[in-house]
Amino acid sequence: MVRLGVNLDHVATLREARKVNYPSPLKAAFIAEEAGADGITMHLRQDRRHIQERDIEDVIKHISLPVNVELAIVPEMVDIVSDLKPQHCCLVPERVTEITTEGGLNIIEFENETGAAIEKLKSKDISVSLFIEPEIEIIKKGVELGTNAIEFNTSLYSDSKTPGERNIQIKRIQKAARFTAENYSLEIHAGHGLNYTNVKFIRDIPEIIEYNIGHSIISRSVFSGLYNAIIEMKKLLRCL
Ligand code: PXP
Repeated sequence: MVRLGVNLDHVATLREARKVNYPSPLKAAFIAEEAGADGITMHLRQDRRHIQERDIEDVIKHISLPVNVELAIVPEMVDIVSDLKPQHCCLVPERVTEITTEGGLNIIEFENETGAAIEKLKSKDISVSLFIEPEIEIIKKGVELGTNAIEFNTSLYSDSKTPGERNIQIKRIQKAARFTAENYSLEIHAGHGLNYTNVKFIRDIPEIIEYNIGHSIISRSVFSGLYNAIIEMKKLLRCL
């Protein structure tokens, strides 16, 4: 069976928009655990725009699910995550002014930095995944650098505007997944921009064993919960 890692970044985005102490990613992690999520993912960005170190500490301490921390290959971030000691991490590219992660990590250009990050994190018993484009040369380089897993960036697929474009991207991911499974014993994950519609076309790639999904789940939860949230406030105001 495939696993679902629930990314809680955007619970923290709502909190940081007001710099208050709610909504709490820890509380969201409890709900995710109760709902059957297989893991919790959080991206510790250099600008700390959403998840903070204390969120990761809290979730590791109180939740029994495996925690996967996404981070840039910057020595300072690698040191911080090495000390936080989640079970898993995923190395991602990061540009401070980006809205969200853009493209897979260029592990060919940044081979030394990626290798050093992998070595340090693995020395702390943290298993490492690389967020990469589904391309054979990049997969081979990830293996050479000693990664434990790879996560295919699905954003070109998720952003497809037509069925034709979508098919091209599905085939690209399928080919990369097949190549990886036939040649290596790496875990294959996928994520970015997956939602309640597009996940139906990608979920049948059998080599992918984990999906990391965040924005669409947190967005959906606004509407699953809004009705009750309004009723509760009306009751408190005694105007129901
Ligand atoms: N996987 C990685 C490596 C990511 O950087 C992100 C976004 O933080 C996701 C998965 C989840 O993407 P989304 O929020 O679009 O579902």
